[in-house]
Amino acid sequence: MLLYEEVAARINDMIAKGTYRPGERIPSIRALSRQMRVSVNTVMESYARLENLGMIEARPQSGYYVCSRLAEPAARRSAAPKGEDIVPNSVIFGDIALEVMRNIANPSLVPLGGGTPNSELSPVDKLNRMLASESRRFSLQSIAYPPPHGHKRLRTQITRRSLDSGCSLAPDDIIITSGCVEAMNPALQAICRPGDTVAIGSPVYPTFLKSIQWMGLKVLEIPSNGEGMNLEVLDYAIRHNRVSACITIANFNNPLGSLMPDDKKRELVSLLAKQEIPLIEDDVYGDLAYGTSRPPLDQGL
Ligand SMILES: Cc1ncc(COP(=O)(O)O)c(C=O)c1O
Repeated sequence: MLLYEEVAARINDMIAKGTYRPGERIPSIRALSRQMRVSVNTVMESYARLENLGMIEARPQSGYYVCSRLAEPAARRSAAPKGEDIVPNSVIFGDIALEVMRNIANPSLVPLGGGTPNSELSPVDKLNRMLASESRRFSLQSIAYPPPHGHKRLRTQITRRSLDSGCSLAPDDIIITSGCVEAMNPALQAICRPGDTVAIGSPVYPTFLKSIQWMGLKVLEIPSNGEGMNLEVLDYAIRHNRVSACITIANFNNPLGSLMPDDKKRELVSLLAKQEIPLIEDDVYGDLAYGTSRPPLDQGL
């Protein structure tokens, strides 16, 4: 158990045993940090966790109190159908989710927690031959540092393919990262400051929640179905909350597998544009479409 979880569990236990009763004030962050000899940040994380569980609430200028009526845990609430029900929350990452992520590389388990393709389905020999022949052709470059934003040839090839997704990009629009999560982090860092809120379709690929939690951001969960985010709820939620960014996985969403229809993508972009909210689109699966063409990006319509 992580330290902040231990602290949260202790306070939770004290509430359950009646040491702190509904409506009573619990120790301030600084007082508890002194009492338990843990950092202020650890207590803040513990309190955020208890807040999300509906155990305690922060009252402005006054401190933290045990909720008068202990609420249903936010993480377990089913998708809320109305915008009024959607409020920004700190991320709590449950033990089961962490366990699943820890076990992704465990060879004795089927890695259901990761979107990893079966390597046997890839043309492994052909890919290896191509890699060998390219590293012979570019023997020095293949072991040298690339420029920080990536090799120009690779960025150029990506921009040529961007037409398939409705975009017409230039090589300098592209930054090469070592994966999608590595791209999400700088995208969020460029837009958000700690305490800001990010709107995100729920359920979501959990690693993004880890990034959001790590950056001290809050999440506004927008319920989603087979056609992606519920735009009515999103519209209400972004008009009633300050939202700094919106993350979408419109093409073959993980975990839902959903594909947002083009007219909904247009509507999503226009709703966000009205509130000047940047859209961060995860399109790791867009190229997996059956048929001859792939679906466009939201921003490519
Ligand atoms: C929707 C989605 N985005 C991102 C990722 C991770 O991408 P990467 O490994 O490139 O960081 C996954 C992997 O499961 C995913 O399902």
